[in-house]
Amino acid sequence: MITRDDCVQRDAADPLAAMRDQFAMGQADRDGLIYLDGNSLGALPKHATIHVMRVMEEEWGRGLIRSWNTAGWIDLPQRIGDKIATLIGAAAGEVIVADSTSINMFKALTAAIAVASPGRTRIVSERTNFPTDLYIADTIAREHGMELALVDEREIGAQLDDRLAVLMLTHVNYRTGLMHSMREVTRAAHQAGAIMVWDLAHSAGAVPVDLQDAGADFAVGCGYKYLNGGPGAPAFIWVHPNHLARMDRDGWRQPLSGWLGHAQPFAFTPEYLPANGIRRFVCGTPPVLSLAALEFGVDTVLSANKVGGINAIRYKSIALTELFMTLVDERAALGFTIVTPRQSETRGSQVSIAHAGDGYAIMQALIARGVIGDFRAPDILRFGFTPLYTRFADVWDAVDRLSQVMTSEEWKEPRFSIRAAVT
Ligand SMILES: Cc1ncc(COP(=O)(O)O)c(C=O)c1O
Repeated sequence: MITRDDCVQRDAADPLAAMRDQFAMGQADRDGLIYLDGNSLGALPKHATIHVMRVMEEEWGRGLIRSWNTAGWIDLPQRIGDKIATLIGAAAGEVIVADSTSINMFKALTAAIAVASPGRTRIVSERTNFPTDLYIADTIAREHGMELALVDEREIGAQLDDRLAVLMLTHVNYRTGLMHSMREVTRAAHQAGAIMVWDLAHSAGAVPVDLQDAGADFAVGCGYKYLNGGPGAPAFIWVHPNHLARMDRDGWRQPLSGWLGHAQPFAFTPEYLPANGIRRFVCGTPPVLSLAALEFGVDTVLSANKVGGINAIRYKSIALTELFMTLVDERAALGFTIVTPRQSETRGSQVSIAHAGDGYAIMQALIARGVIGDFRAPDILRFGFTPLYTRFADVWDAVDRLSQVMTSEEWKEPRFSIRAAVT
């Protein structure tokens, strides 16, 4: 049996332990709160509030509209994109921050179809992919007279034929935590002559990603999960430089042809002329305050480079998720099934467990005991482990409290079954 003391010792030896001080965890600690939902909303970096306040008071308050130039607001989408690029195996100038993941998926899929081999009729994705990706793909398939085929993970290989235009997958599945091999899947898609689009919502800042090495075509990702950009933070989009070069040559226009994706926005011409490079994927005015928070969140992740960076994050993430699974296994009588893959190479930074009882009520009872995870219908209790602020002792305490919720049967209290709008 693993003891709490074992976990405390692991925390003492953890090279990332000091990173936790960069997050506003003081109140959580005073309240005895354990936060295991950074895969849904990253925690607040402690000094992000001061940074955003400075942007508001100095750049907005004093600088007023001049700050678009003097404070470099206009360059924020590219500047933060360049920083995110270092986390996902991309080069400077290939990533831009804009809009939401859903909107970027719309742009990426439209672009993917534009560069796909002519005559191909299918977009393929996983049935358990995040719904927004599937809804956007469905609309795009309809608009282009194509078919969206949804299959289980094991059936993807059988779909790679000469009908396939685009394979669109989320690198780490939001429900199960299964992580695809980006390199192998991309290679297989290319062998079938298809374009590969990745959603990195649960990867960027959590696991090493190398888009260039994998030879991927397009990728999008989220700013508010492991990049700690705050609720509704802007998202990012990456396009392989070969596609960007071809788009430049062809003057290709993305579907949301707004003025800030124009080659010369301040020429105010009535005709749309797309900017060269990744900037063509911008649509409208960047949300400066949200970008300020996101930049601070990304900088916080990048500050871990001093203590091993993304490889250290991954090493600890595997250890945390393994510890959680072992502790749940040790309490087999609680009746949970571990849904997440056991092999670390095929697992992201979360663990999902299922229970024959009411998973929603169990999660609410656990939250009432101060452990925050989330619930994904119909039966998944999801726990995210963000190595920058999650301690080994937190994992032990979380499973201990889960035990208490189950053995006391307090989750059966009617108040825990009342559904909130957000689960
Ligand atoms: C894989 C994936 N894609 C996209 C999104 C959300 O997209 P958006 O920020 O546009 O709501 C999520 C949200 O959890 C997600 O898990």
